Amino acid sequence: MAFVKVAALGDIPTDSVFEAAVGGNVYAICNSGGELRAFQGECPHAGGPLGEGTIENGRLVCPWHAWEYDCLTGVNDFDQDVKLESFPVKTQDGEIYIDIPGASAGTA
Ligand code: FES
Repeated sequence: MAFVKVAALGDIPTDSVFEAAVGGNVYAICNSGGELRAFQGECPHAGGPLGEGTIENGRLVCPWHAWEYDCLTGVNDFDQDVKLESFPVKTQDGEIYIDIPGASAGTA
């Protein structure tokens, strides 16, 4: 596992989501009320781009069919058994890093 730089803090204002691509995979980086979380970028429903979704009332909303996920836990709002894969996040010197299994350390 290695932390990989995915964005600058300024790229993800409060209550927005950012799509980051690392090694051919996409990730949805959420800022909900100042809390940063990193989730898988593809929606479990049908592969929608969660990083192109919206944050509404603490939930990440998929842009395709509006499934909603808790921004802190990744749990689906309707079916608690559906949960997004999450990745550790850290910030350093104004940059956001996520810990991706098998990734090389450095810049995305
Ligand atoms: S693909 Fe996300 S709600 Fe359908």
